[in-house]
Amino acid sequence: MDFVKIFEDWRRVVARSVLVFHLVCAAVGVLALLGVISTPFMGDPSPGGATLATAAIAGLLCLLGSCALGGGVRYAVYGDFRLLPSRSFRDYYAGDDDGGEGTAHVAPPLPARTQRGPDDDLVDRARESVSSGDLDGFQDVFNRLQARPAIPAGEISEELAPRIREFGLERNCCELWEQGYTVVEDVAPPEYWRDLRAAILKAASADPGARAGSMGSTLMPKYPAVAEAAVNPKMMALAEFSVGAGFILSNVASSIRRKGDRNIGLHCDQVWHPVPFPEHNLFLTACWACDDFTPEAGPTTVVPGSAARRRPPNLDEIGSTATVPIECKAGSIAVWDGRTWHDNATRTIDGERAVLHVSYTRLMMRQMEVYARSVQDRLVERHGEPMAQLLGRYDFLAKPEGKAYVDGFMRAIAYSRR
Ligand SMILES: [Fe+2]
Repeated sequence: MDFVKIFEDWRRVVARSVLVFHLVCAAVGVLALLGVISTPFMGDPSPGGATLATAAIAGLLCLLGSCALGGGVRYAVYGDFRLLPSRSFRDYYAGDDDGGEGTAHVAPPLPARTQRGPDDDLVDRARESVSSGDLDGFQDVFNRLQARPAIPAGEISEELAPRIREFGLERNCCELWEQGYTVVEDVAPPEYWRDLRAAILKAASADPGARAGSMGSTLMPKYPAVAEAAVNPKMMALAEFSVGAGFILSNVASSIRRKGDRNIGLHCDQVWHPVPFPEHNLFLTACWACDDFTPEAGPTTVVPGSAARRRPPNLDEIGSTATVPIECKAGSIAVWDGRTWHDNATRTIDGERAVLHVSYTRLMMRQMEVYARSVQDRLVERHGEPMAQLLGRYDFLAKPEGKAYVDGFMRAIAYSRR
């Protein structure tokens, strides 16, 4: 028996029943309103104004009372009152884009995991064992998964290798591992880059106070081009090489750099992790360059090979270490390892440089940004399986069900090895 699925199905049945009841109440209210308003005309073809006004008020009270009855049932079930129902299930239960969440929100089913490796068959077996009460079978799968050796750092897993070949990313994998950074080209057509740049500029003009740029919770639901960057298949293949199977999204942020803007200073991105950093990378940043990265344009600068030091720069090194600019054409992605020391150069020319930073992290890490469940669901509905992975929906961590999400638990063990 899959109790999590049964529970989810049951929640959806209850949620739909509450919405249907609320709609019926509203329909009855409208009929009552029409009926009460027409009553004065039954005995008198031209009733007086006072009679009509009384009938109108009484009709409106009937409508309000009826809607409130439906809203009251919603409140009784979810502790969340709403006077009027919505025709759409999603609208009725969704929170808003600012992170407010109705307690009544019910998640739609997850897209099936189609991007599978052989270890996914073991994950399925574990779920079936638990469903049929075969605990020995479950234990056997658990033992096999935990005993699997991990892919050595810097190597490409068997499961990933076909996608690395398909996208021609072999050189990028080498550069990322050996130098700590690389530039990825040919990821999207020119019209896509125009849309992305327009979205970044529009977001900046809508929120001029956001000094560090706009964040993913604001950008992704509003601007499809931004969410499409996060789930770009070529970039996701490279990210899987760097931060492992089942990796998740940590942060999405846009930024605009103008002449004379302050430099950020030498640092590495995974700076909140304990030192020395592990041999496997934990964090990867993809910087979508909507404008040329030339030395004068204020590009990101890096210390090649610094990822191997597995620590952030010390105080002396911050002031004295030379960096080199990442140079690339508009329409490329500059990508760096979470341990790579980097900075940015001063922009000395007019105009502006718009970029989108998308950061990915290993599935067991906490994200920099989290989104309300209803916002996640909307993104998953729009962008499917890759987005569900990026939002951590296929693993068991940080979920109300915890280890009772058996597939998610097993998948986390399996994917941590590749
Ligand atoms: Fe950084």
